[in-house]
Amino acid sequence: MRASVNGSRTIVRLGVVDSTQRVAFDLADEGAADGTVVVAETQTAGRGRRGRVWRDERGASLLFSIVVRPALSSSLLPTLSLATAVAVATALERVARLPARLKWPNDVMVNGRKIAGILLESRMGASESRGGVRPVVAVGIGINVLQREFPDDVQPHATSIRLETDRLVSRENLLATLLEEFAHWRAVLERQGFAPVRRRWLALSDTVGRRVRIDGCTGTAIDLDAAGALVIEEAGQARRVIAGDVIADHREG
Ligand code: BTN
Repeated sequence: MRASVNGSRTIVRLGVVDSTQRVAFDLADEGAADGTVVVAETQTAGRGRRGRVWRDERGASLLFSIVVRPALSSSLLPTLSLATAVAVATALERVARLPARLKWPNDVMVNGRKIAGILLESRMGASESRGGVRPVVAVGIGINVLQREFPDDVQPHATSIRLETDRLVSRENLLATLLEEFAHWRAVLERQGFAPVRRRWLALSDTVGRRVRIDGCTGTAIDLDAAGALVIEEAGQARRVIAGDVIADHREG
């Protein structure tokens, strides 16, 4: 394990690891400071959303987790994943000039294919300052950077910065920009609440306005509400969806 301190931030760099999420929680248990970052070259048991596995090609992805002790009420906690998606899309635009769009809740897409995945897991942990108990969140981000191809089952749905731009973007630069954007959007959320994050998420959305199917519920996605839920309308009835996978409904014109 190699650790460096950049400004006030510790970055732990690993070669092979099961999951940077597991390491982030272990470090948090040992008292790691808010903002500690764990980066890996490859993962043997990368975790995806909803219990899925996140596979990577060694050295081709940017894989990392951030230890976060958010100053957020429990009702705002779920919106941290939307703020993270905004940070990732903005960093991709800054570093690679990519027109990244967001698929609810937090998939980052380019030209209809997934370029980055985000997983937030939380646990209760001892607070740094007051000895109390506050949630610790491991904010996990996987970005396809240098891949030229993907396994057959993933290929139709995935893309990378290299495939989209033909450029070899530095993973270090991308990490630095992303940490900057994450710190910014997290601070916006903690200080101003969800409204400004929601506005930016909606501007980047690839979901609102489309016909979608989510866990058996079909309709037109019409909004993101003040709590981060997707609002779907069908036959004049609006429903809030708080979790699930958006699938494009092919009856769309
Ligand atoms: C998704 O299913 O879209 C979320 C994927 C998140 C993958 C990242 S890679 C770094 C971090 N460590 C993990 O085990 N998962 C996240």
